[in-house]
Amino acid sequence: MSQKPFQLVDGNSGDASDLSVKEGTIGPAVMDVTRLYKEHGVFTFDPGFVSTASCESQITFIDGEKGILLYRGYPVEQLAKNSNYLEVCYLLLAGELPNAQQRETFAHSILHHTMINETLLRFFNGFHYNAHPMAMVSGVVGSMSAFYHDSMDIKNPEHREIFAHRIIAKMPTISAAAYKHSTGQPFVYPRNDLDYCSNLMHMFFAVPCEAYEVDPIAAEALDLLFILHADHEQNCSTSTVRLAGSSGTNPYAAIAAGVSALWGPAHGGANEAVLKMLEQIGTPDAIPKYIAKAKDKDDPFRLMGFGHRVYKNFDPRAKIIREMCHKVLDKLGRTDTPLFELALRLEEIALQDDYFVGKKLYPNVDFYSGIIYKALGIPKSMFTVMFAIARSVGWVAHWQEMIADPDRKIGRPRQLYTGPDRRDYLDIDKRA
Ligand code: CMC
Repeated sequence: MSQKPFQLVDGNSGDASDLSVKEGTIGPAVMDVTRLYKEHGVFTFDPGFVSTASCESQITFIDGEKGILLYRGYPVEQLAKNSNYLEVCYLLLAGELPNAQQRETFAHSILHHTMINETLLRFFNGFHYNAHPMAMVSGVVGSMSAFYHDSMDIKNPEHREIFAHRIIAKMPTISAAAYKHSTGQPFVYPRNDLDYCSNLMHMFFAVPCEAYEVDPIAAEALDLLFILHADHEQNCSTSTVRLAGSSGTNPYAAIAAGVSALWGPAHGGANEAVLKMLEQIGTPDAIPKYIAKAKDKDDPFRLMGFGHRVYKNFDPRAKIIREMCHKVLDKLGRTDTPLFELALRLEEIALQDDYFVGKKLYPNVDFYSGIIYKALGIPKSMFTVMFAIARSVGWVAHWQEMIADPDRKIGRPRQLYTGPDRRDYLDIDKRA
């Protein structure tokens, strides 16, 4: 293919063969390269999507330099202070805050779709007792694609809405079942009279042989954490859901792909890794040793819960969760807070270190969230599952936005091939 020189022009008024720049509402503009290959015979090369906008979206905005996070335009700090998780779910899905009637109808629908098919529950028996809960959740969410055939036409907006409600409503039930399976305790059925997070706590911690009362402080803390985790634009798991969903696959299968992507320690798995790291560090006097390990290029150790692809100043979610740690630990009457104190000290030391300052590495959402989960009695292996429950609305909102787009294309990146050139097959006796 012939190579033509190309030039960048501002706006859409340039010559047909030029690249154009598209402006969003806020944030950096993008260079539209969709015709680049057709007209110039080259691809763009951007491993890790460091400079690539993979889609157009109206859901969430992040300004990484200023530490701003907006859901449908609303600052996350305002939502954390004034809203609740289910209202935020409505906002992310519908694009606007609900009025009183809409809020009630939505909450009623979510709180009355909590049960899972009894046969789906039996899937858990196939897992070994020590299976990681994320493996179980990913497997069982994927298995949901074997159910609900009557409402699975992704071109039908009503079916898409039923799917959205089912995922948000049933994620806590599936997650609690994974927890109960790993502890060997009997599964606890959902209670539709409880709010979203109280029901989750009930399914986790109730046992049939005694009464269990949900601590409202714990449920409130969980609700706030869920608001902060609800969406984060085109992160790894959301992009995975979009990519899997772009083929028109069953949406439960696409969500299961998102759960799998979230599991990794560079993404949602970091909250579990932070707690393990803090326990490994043990005492403040060991911090310098671990800071040195994190800075050593020959050591694979990284300070978990530090750094972010987008936030280069501070993560607004981490700031809220750090304040919340103080309040929750106080309210729960916890005096034994060495892990929190260790985390505070680690943050303080790292933020005075040239390496972390120079590379703009700050605590992210996962640095403090595990401390709260631990205080609520949730085991480490379930931390990423909690993230998955909260993020399910983000995945669904992005999937909905993509499927509803009449110009949707299957996601199909290209590559820079650096393998062998064409060569002929060699008989085995001619090979080295
Ligand atoms: N500890 C030590 N060094 C770090 C760390 C860290 N946590 N994070 C980044 N760096 C260094 C990295 O070695 C690199 O150095 P150099 O330029 O000399 O090669 C530089 O900082 C840039 O890092 P990067 O890996 O190129 O940046 P990235 O944008 O690709 O990765 C990240 C972002 C979040 C994966 C990474 O910072 C990291 O691995 N952090 C620890 C894991 C973590 O906390 N993940 C949760 C992310 S927030 C929640 C979520 O997304 O789910």
